[in-house]
Amino acid sequence: MEFKLFPGGTISGEVRVPGDKSISHRSVMLSSIAEGDSRIRGFLEGEDALATLAALRALGVEIAGPAKGELRVSGVGLAGLRAPSTELDMGNSGTSMRLLSGLLAGQPFASRLTGDASLCRRPMARVMQPLARMGASITAADGDRPPLQIDACRGLQGIHYPMPIASAQVKSCLLLAGLYAEGCTSVTEPAPTRDHTERMLRGFGYEVTRDNDVIQLRGGGRLVGTDIDIPADISSAAFFIVAATIAPGSELLLTHVGVNPTRIGIISILTLMGADITLMNERDVGGEPVADILVRHAPLRGIAIPEDQVPLAIDEFPVLFIAAACAEGRTTLSGAEELRVKESDRIASMAEGLTTLGVRNEPRPDGIVIEGGALGGGVIHTHHDHRIAMAFAVAALRAEREIYVMDCDTVATSFPGFDAMARGLGLQISTQAGQA
Ligand code: S3P
Repeated sequence: MEFKLFPGGTISGEVRVPGDKSISHRSVMLSSIAEGDSRIRGFLEGEDALATLAALRALGVEIAGPAKGELRVSGVGLAGLRAPSTELDMGNSGTSMRLLSGLLAGQPFASRLTGDASLCRRPMARVMQPLARMGASITAADGDRPPLQIDACRGLQGIHYPMPIASAQVKSCLLLAGLYAEGCTSVTEPAPTRDHTERMLRGFGYEVTRDNDVIQLRGGGRLVGTDIDIPADISSAAFFIVAATIAPGSELLLTHVGVNPTRIGIISILTLMGADITLMNERDVGGEPVADILVRHAPLRGIAIPEDQVPLAIDEFPVLFIAAACAEGRTTLSGAEELRVKESDRIASMAEGLTTLGVRNEPRPDGIVIEGGALGGGVIHTHHDHRIAMAFAVAALRAEREIYVMDCDTVATSFPGFDAMARGLGLQISTQAGQA
């Protein structure tokens, strides 16, 4: 699938983007190992979250749905998962693989986790090493890359792990393994990362403590089934927040968006650049902060992105780079080397596409420098990365010529229906079958 975009356009309307991907993954995992039934609403029916759902079914959990984002999960309890009869395919989803490796490390049966070509290039030592310290036995096919073979567990021991990188996936993996470990498991975060796992564990009645940068739980408790209402994904909303900001004459209302403080780096960074973004109707939905977000067009200026915002906006940099390209002056990003090991090397993928559009940029090992200016047009390669595809679709609003975005199938991993929703809001996008 390819996107063809005509230049220009204005973004207007009111829309609710699909459910939060991170929370969707966790909702299925935790409800599966809870005691009793859970009802989940707002579940993201994208390939990544569906890979997690299929894995839990393969582990013996009965799950009805999804139907219009609704699931009913018959929890089997902490000790109720069953050995899968085949390997578990995580597709493109790093979150599925890293979080499930924590859950599976403590099971009395073996399992094998695999994924697509992109996932099989991503580093797994970050979870394998601390899990090994807890007593798990996990081998990777090639160094630290998937597939992962997880041996039947003969008992995990709680550890304290000072995390070398600010990663919610590593933290969540260890907390999930910690449920099965003897004693306490704790992690120290070098910087705050998304805390959906901690919030949701508490929602299932499981005690998790936070003392400054240390998060801790004790193994061997129980989770009790509950109802979960998943807000819209701020990482998906981000494409339209930038779209409405850069397109003259735009005014857009995004409803029911998750605005957890560990996820709103996109809003803080754009506001520093001069964006006109208002959070309205702020409320708590099942332990997660939610708001309606009003965005109006505003001229942007280049900034040095504060490094403390990096983990809070980690998935939004592709589209933030488009905002930087439309800003007056220079934007610099540093301290973001993690971008190199996402679904693609996002610094390299974005630098290549920006250069195609005629935007001056200088990639660096841990970031990039972008000079705002005119955007031309051309053919963009996504490197099988959903967020690269959607970012360059948004760029068309300020482009001088047509943009063709190749290889957009992966958009379905996080944002099924992106093209139709974007068209409805004013992006001049059409979809066509790709060559390959
Ligand atoms: C995620 C955490 C982030 C993010 C990913 C989803 C999660 O990864 O990039 O898309 O759901 O925990 P890291 O924690 O590895 O940075």
